[in-house]
Amino acid sequence: MERTPKIVIEHLNFTYDDGTESLLDVSSTIYANEITVIFGPAGGGKSTLLRVINRLNDLAAGKSMTGRVLLDGQDIYAKEVDVTALRRKVGIVFAQPQPLPLSLRANIEYGPRLAGVRDKQKLDQLVEQSLTQAALWDEVKDRLNDSGYALSGGQQQRLCLARVLALEPEVILMDEPMSGLDPLSTAKIEDSMQQLKQLYTIVIAPHNIQQAARVADNAAFFLQGRLIEEGTGKQLFTKPKDKRTEDYIMGRFG
Ligand SMILES: Nc1ncnc2c1ncn2[C@@H]1O[C@H](COP(=O)(O)OP(=O)(O)OP(=O)(O)O)[C@@H](O)[C@H]1O
Ligand SMILES: [Mg+2]
Repeated sequence: MERTPKIVIEHLNFTYDDGTESLLDVSSTIYANEITVIFGPAGGGKSTLLRVINRLNDLAAGKSMTGRVLLDGQDIYAKEVDVTALRRKVGIVFAQPQPLPLSLRANIEYGPRLAGVRDKQKLDQLVEQSLTQAALWDEVKDRLNDSGYALSGGQQQRLCLARVLALEPEVILMDEPMSGLDPLSTAKIEDSMQQLKQLYTIVIAPHNIQQAARVADNAAFFLQGRLIEEGTGKQLFTKPKDKRTEDYIMGRFG
């Protein structure tokens, strides 16, 4: 199948205000309808990269950034880009689920309402569709008026994924979205990711190497801000080319 580039990263350098060089000359292409895994030890720059793709680092004090990030060929840092519109296209899910102190239904409807969706039928449809895609619908369909806080941690995580999906984004960034989850919830989300990738482009920084190997169509190994090696998940996790990738995968360093 022909692969369509969705996000192109060109010579990206990112330095925080305290001088920490978090990304060093990173270039990579992320393809549509694939799950791209970025992995590597703590401090390697994974979260920084995800935030740069969503422009969540815009307000980091004194940061300096060079290089380009293109979404469908458009520079996301170009002056004319509307950041709110960008974030609607590129959603992000974090490790710590933070539902709003509202009902389940209102949690999901919140984003679409802000984006101007008022039609009750359309909102109902988004609630069912996004909860189904997040593998939560069957568990909550009879209690949509309960508080988001009334869910287990694993359910809250899926609720937060559903909130992102309700905006019908094109790209979903996931930063260790399953770090606090039980194996069953993790399996449910991993299963639904296989469906979701038919519709979306998924970039995930998994919380462990086993998950990275399970879900990756493509994988990129980051070490101290540098992209050391990238390839298909199969190639990278079974036949890494770089000694540092191999050492990390074999658990020789953390
Ligand atoms: N807001 C910040 N200000 C200054 N330095 C930061 C900031 N956020 C991250 N860093 C530094 O940037 C580097 C990359 O951090 P980042 O969080 O991107 O790594 P990571 O690969 O996501 O790590 P982890 O696996 O622990 O989540 C680290 O040296 C980190 O200390
Ligand atoms: Mg991180």
